[in-house]
Amino acid sequence: LKIGVLASGRGTNLQSIIDGIKAGEIPAEIEVVISDKETAKALERAAKYDIDNQYVNPQDYNTTEEFEQGMIDILEQHNVQLVIMAGFMRLLTPYFVKKYKDSVMNIHPSLLPAFKGLHAQKQALDYGVKVAGCTVHFADEGMDTGPIILQATVPVKEDDTEETLANRILQKEHKIYPKAIRLYAEDKLEVKNGKVIIKE
Ligand code: GRF
Repeated sequence: LKIGVLASGRGTNLQSIIDGIKAGEIPAEIEVVISDKETAKALERAAKYDIDNQYVNPQDYNTTEEFEQGMIDILEQHNVQLVIMAGFMRLLTPYFVKKYKDSVMNIHPSLLPAFKGLHAQKQALDYGVKVAGCTVHFADEGMDTGPIILQATVPVKEDDTEETLANRILQKEHKIYPKAIRLYAEDKLEVKNGKVIIKE
């Protein structure tokens, strides 16, 4: 399975996927990492493993669709079959989503559909939930919407700060994202009536 990763930041989820592949746990290869941020640590991580890494500057394009086409051109050059959003801080348009139907995954640090958008961990703390977590889902054009693939929970502790809770959730992110990609690579995910069925 040929994977392309979109990332805007530090890339710890990217790292967990690289590690999963290296450990032989995911039958896939990362063909390219694309970032909309020139200084993204994710690009450095890719370079370290000799993975093609490319900065695509949104300001070089007149429209979001043209920017996305810039990314799609790179993904197509690499024959990417599955697109992984790993801390990619932009919404995709219907144009991109249609091109990669049920083939774009995202991870979000909440138990969706709760706490979509930015600062999900702070939203959870502010609300006072006792259980938090993370979600891997197929991405559509909405903000953190699309069929849910895997979720994992963590307890919220009374003395949690945004940082301590985010770290606890992140440890789980690094487990479920590689697992979701593995399921996809093994052809065990089916989307039916807007829901994911895990086969077997
Ligand atoms: C993660 O918390 C992920 O859930 C969210 O953005 C963060 C990315 O972290 N979508 P990293 O760049 O993978 O370290």
